[in-house]
Amino acid sequence: MDDHIISRASACGKIILCGEHAVVYARPAIALPLASIRAHAVITRGIPGAGLCFVAPDLGRRWLLAATPDDPMAELVTTTLRRLGVAQPLDLRITVTSDLPIASGMGSGAAIATAVVRALAAALDRTLEPADISAQVYDSERRYHGTPSGIDNTVVAHEQAIWFQRRTEPPHVIEPITIGAPFTLLIGDTGVRSATRLPVGDVRRRWQEDPTHYEALFDQVAAIVTRTRTVLASGDLGTLGALLNQNQELLERIGVSSPELERLVEAARSAGAYGAKLSGAGWGGVMIALVDDRSADGVRSALMQAGATRVLQTTVGAG
Ligand code: MEV
Repeated sequence: MDDHIISRASACGKIILCGEHAVVYARPAIALPLASIRAHAVITRGIPGAGLCFVAPDLGRRWLLAATPDDPMAELVTTTLRRLGVAQPLDLRITVTSDLPIASGMGSGAAIATAVVRALAAALDRTLEPADISAQVYDSERRYHGTPSGIDNTVVAHEQAIWFQRRTEPPHVIEPITIGAPFTLLIGDTGVRSATRLPVGDVRRRWQEDPTHYEALFDQVAAIVTRTRTVLASGDLGTLGALLNQNQELLERIGVSSPELERLVEAARSAGAYGAKLSGAGWGGVMIALVDDRSADGVRSALMQAGATRVLQTTVGAG
């Protein structure tokens, strides 16, 4: 086997600042890239005649595209190659690794898929526009969780803070967000893994049973997201924190919080965070806390004491 590297690419993780779940129902949401936490894809020569082989050392898995043509990753590769004008099977090995825990709310699926699409394009000496990559990855996300809004693939492909609003038909509304003053978030991981499609499917069932109630909740989330955008431009941390707290309360009423998430949210607030909420699909995964230089260390310790399995830090809008 020749381990000569043909191409390599990476893609960032993401967090949702506000508006998750309501965004599936055409309300706006704000998402932020996590530039330092990434998924990686490396393409090397494969076994002649074997076609494409995937290797995921983190999962201890290795499989052939030909053996699993219906697998979402296999479909992603097939459609991407078709998009790149390649019809014949290629003997390549794609190795994927990720710093992002799976099912944690940090966009691991979208990041891995984006890294793979970028690496395939690079292997063929091509570049795909972010919108093109995002569209390929969206189709793959649909295979994993049914009714994604498209926000994860969009923020990961564009790797910048975005305002996203789904339209019935693309193009969706995708706008860069102005950050007036940099701010710092701590990301506390509950360590509980919850596949996005489970809370998303549960919310859909309850929305179908009582659309009026859920539409009203989604409208309240939308109002918070709209105010958040204005506050981000002005840099008022106190008001931003209060808006995050209000979004958490609505997420609890939507039914996607959990005791583990609420323990971390409470611990962060008691230790001096301006505000805190779950981030992503919920029922597990991560929460975010808005802090400043004075409160960051205390909030980090409080999160660890309250059961966080790890705490990451990201500064948004710096540079
Ligand atoms: C997941 O990162 C965000 C959700 O709103 C699902 C989606 O938008 O597809 C929960």
